[in-house]
Amino acid sequence: MAEQTHPAPQPDGHRNPVQISPSILSADFANLAAEAEAVRGADWLHVDVMDNHFVPNLTLGLPVVESLRKATATPLDCHLMIEDPDRWAPQYAEAGASSVTFHVEAAAAPVRLARELRAQGARASMALRPATPIEPYEDLLPELDMVLIMTVEPGFGGQAFLDVMLPKIRRTRRLIERHGLQLWLQVDGGVSATTIERCAEAGADVFVAGSAVYGADDPSAAVAALRERAESVRRA
Ligand code: DX5
Ligand code: ZN
Repeated sequence: MAEQTHPAPQPDGHRNPVQISPSILSADFANLAAEAEAVRGADWLHVDVMDNHFVPNLTLGLPVVESLRKATATPLDCHLMIEDPDRWAPQYAEAGASSVTFHVEAAAAPVRLARELRAQGARASMALRPATPIEPYEDLLPELDMVLIMTVEPGFGGQAFLDVMLPKIRRTRRLIERHGLQLWLQVDGGVSATTIERCAEAGADVFVAGSAVYGADDPSAAVAALRERAESVRRA
């Protein structure tokens, strides 16, 4: 069997802690400091950067990230939905993002880019659109700190979770384990109280949620409730 040629699976490979990363795409952009404060207890703040080219939407850029960095102690998880991440992503690390995610579909030299991000002290993360398979990128995994599997077409918050992505989450988790890596596996899009358990069961450990957090009356309670649901899958 092909499996036997790989290192033995790491029993703890899928036991990275559950982490919740609320997406400020669903927050009030005129009150970002207060919105960051509203999700105290979250592990990360997910910042969606869109350039109206890679996706048909435009959000924010480096100056906003620089200001957010000063406004909150929560580490920033920047998701770059932009063309030419080779040029721009390192600048997000410099602006204070602790984790920088580039889309592999847009990156000209993903290994060089991941190394550059790590050299700047940021976590290097690679995102896949729904139609992009993980298998061609298996050999890149050791260069990365996180893989982001999009569970909607990137561009907008509030879309319905794509169940058809669950097999890709499972296959990605298996590849991570086969290589004995401690990579985090993030899911983004349509993650809510009704879908987070499916994602956790499939092997995700970092959960982005926009509308499910900022659409709630108490965003910080929504973060806690999502965390509890994901952790309950681990206990099962
Ligand atoms: C979509 C963004 C997501 C978005 C998720 O392209 O990458 O981070 O904010 O929003 P929800 O959780 O509402 O699907
Ligand atoms: Zn995102």
